[in-house]
Amino acid sequence: MEIRIGVVQNSPKFLKAPANIRACFELMDKHEADLWVLPEFFASGYNFKTKKEAAACAEKADGPLSKLLQAYAAQRDCAIVAGFPEKAGAKLYNSALLATPAKTRVYRKTHVFGGEKRFFSPGDTGFWTEKIKGVSVGVMICFDWFFPESARTLALKGAQVIAHPANLVLPWGPEGMKIRSLENRVFTATADRVGSERGLGFIGQSQIVSPNGSLLTRLGHDEVRAAVVSVDAWTARDKKVHPACDLFEDRRPKLYAR
Ligand code: ACM
Repeated sequence: MEIRIGVVQNSPKFLKAPANIRACFELMDKHEADLWVLPEFFASGYNFKTKKEAAACAEKADGPLSKLLQAYAAQRDCAIVAGFPEKAGAKLYNSALLATPAKTRVYRKTHVFGGEKRFFSPGDTGFWTEKIKGVSVGVMICFDWFFPESARTLALKGAQVIAHPANLVLPWGPEGMKIRSLENRVFTATADRVGSERGLGFIGQSQIVSPNGSLLTRLGHDEVRAAVVSVDAWTARDKKVHPACDLFEDRRPKLYAR
């Protein structure tokens, strides 16, 4: 089953959401994709200094950003996964919205990173999957990649594609995500940003990786553009790495308990 997966690598201007959203849509307009992945906090920027500042950018999961993404999804007959600061009661979450023409769903980042911990609560949605044009898609956000349990949980729940909005600041994510793909035999699509914000630099290198761990596309450190790859998602149903070795059937979960 073919699915066209797109990643958008942007260079958001801090706190300039309307311009940042417009810039992403302009990059996406040049391509056709079934599933778009946009970076973590793609519209607001990332490096908040106070909770008040983060809260001023945050919105509810069914707020205006959600409506805008859903309208774009309906217009282009696609799904979009995009990171945003979410307000839920008194709490803020580092979340990603999955928007399709028919529905929206939110994933809240499980493993919040560094200074995010000052303002954002650890996610409580757990990992879920949704069918996009017949293909099972799961979501994790940036630093979640460092915990193999994130991708493994999604893969065990049937994800064939992991959408991975990111704002990578450490150097290991792009290479590490090849292993997340290989050890779970899933496609991964990491959408990162470039540039720097208040002295914090982001490494770009958005990419799409196949279930055998090979790069299907990788953008540069500073490039601002979108890239789309068409893949056969059925490949990710086959968990064999050798005729006699199936990564899921050969697991020994009883021996993994602490
Ligand atoms: C990160 O989780 N944004 C590094």
